[in-house]
Amino acid sequence: MTAATATTADTFRPALHYTAGNTWLNDPNGLIFHDGVYHLYYQNNPVDNVWGNMSWGHATSTDLLTWTEHPVAIACDEDEDIFSGSIVFDQDNTSGFGTGSAPPLVAVYTSAFKPGSAHGGLQAQSLAYSLDCGYTWTKHTANPVLNRGSAEFRDPKVIRYDGDAGSYWVMAAVEAQDFQVVLYRSDDLRNWEYLSTFGPANATGGVWECPDLFPLPLDSDPARLQWVLTVNLNPGGPNNGSAGQYFVGEFDGTTFASATTVTEGLQDPARLSEYQWLDWGRDYYAAVSFSDVPDNRRLMIAWMNNWEYANHIPTTPWRSPMTLAREISLHTIDGQPRLIQKATGNFAALPEQGQKFSLADTEIADGTHILEDAAGSVQRIDITLTPGTAEEFGLVVRGDGARGTRVGIRPDEAILIVDRRDSGDTDFHKAFPSVDSAPVLTTEGSYDLTIYVDRCSVEVFARGGQVTMTELIFPAHTSTDVAVYAIGGTATINRLEITQFA
Ligand code: FRU
Repeated sequence: MTAATATTADTFRPALHYTAGNTWLNDPNGLIFHDGVYHLYYQNNPVDNVWGNMSWGHATSTDLLTWTEHPVAIACDEDEDIFSGSIVFDQDNTSGFGTGSAPPLVAVYTSAFKPGSAHGGLQAQSLAYSLDCGYTWTKHTANPVLNRGSAEFRDPKVIRYDGDAGSYWVMAAVEAQDFQVVLYRSDDLRNWEYLSTFGPANATGGVWECPDLFPLPLDSDPARLQWVLTVNLNPGGPNNGSAGQYFVGEFDGTTFASATTVTEGLQDPARLSEYQWLDWGRDYYAAVSFSDVPDNRRLMIAWMNNWEYANHIPTTPWRSPMTLAREISLHTIDGQPRLIQKATGNFAALPEQGQKFSLADTEIADGTHILEDAAGSVQRIDITLTPGTAEEFGLVVRGDGARGTRVGIRPDEAILIVDRRDSGDTDFHKAFPSVDSAPVLTTEGSYDLTIYVDRCSVEVFARGGQVTMTELIFPAHTSTDVAVYAIGGTATINRLEITQFA
């Protein structure tokens, strides 16, 4: 494909999620808040809308909802593809790439060396730096800086560790095929010393990729700091294909010790639902967090796609959106430390789009009932539902009376489902049409859901953000109905509010 221009048929392009103008993207890379701007770099094919020619694309935002695309930041060349990695602000110029008064941003990325290059076939970690706040980048001349002689060593996430053991840079990367996160330390970002290895643990049904390691206060108490290790895996997710899991524990500057490991060593596939997932849906992968967000807020973005069918989703000229940014926090739930996630971004500043739709204390009779004046394709839906006699109940979004995407609850099974078998175009790949589920309990007898619908996606936050499901859908642009439904009985809507964003 040569660079195409947007067409009127581009009805799947989201309003509030980042997409590249007319090219392919996958993992978010180098997420950083710097100088008042959120920077989103990403795995990008600059000349096509399928995976290949991996380079770092670049976009910026001040509200996390609307993004500006910039020229490719770090481009592949005849020796290497530029795989995933991270960016740090090297405030004290420890790397020497800048000066004391003009410190650099430093990107740490995986060089995926091409056959015939000096390190052909290997994956090793390399540096590039920017002296203009992230808009142009220069590759370090002595790359790679960390080479284990491995073909599967990638996705470095670098953080500044400041703790009892001292103050230094820490890198988390993966040995993908070994289901391991490997930790290294450095004083100058150029010389790296091995610290420790974590894994295999919990889900190991696919390669481990794109790790992250960060502290969070437990129950908002800064005196009870815990460390969260996230790692994405592909395939092997709870509803098949790509997904991200997390562990909570202690990091002493050398070793991460998980307090939430269920199974060590190779996984027991029957226990997938006991593990901790960043998201239970099919399209939340390569999640990673921003560096340097003010007030110690921890914000994550994921690639909204799944390697099972990623190259085939029916969008053109672009392919793959990012997810909404999420603010994550750590809370004790049933005696265990668990992540709570909320969509974030300056929604309040979006232009008003007519009246909110709202409803309270209404019974849903058996069947599907379209809500007058609730239609839309870019909306936030807040609903609280109480079970009655129905075996399943919930909402249909992006519907046309007959078809649609069901977001529902099956109370007897204590699960949340997203059913996209009838969501629109599903036959571009046999793995796409699916009914996916996540375990979810009531809160005082009811279920609360917040759902973001944005043209080609639904992101569901249940139980106050304790359980999330993110899924792509490809409905006809005329399918905009919102309906409520109950199967085999009744349920009650305690409260429903729908906000239109576009
Ligand atoms: C994850 C991943 C990473 C790798 C990148 C290549 O989706 O496979 O492990 O760095 O994509 O594009």
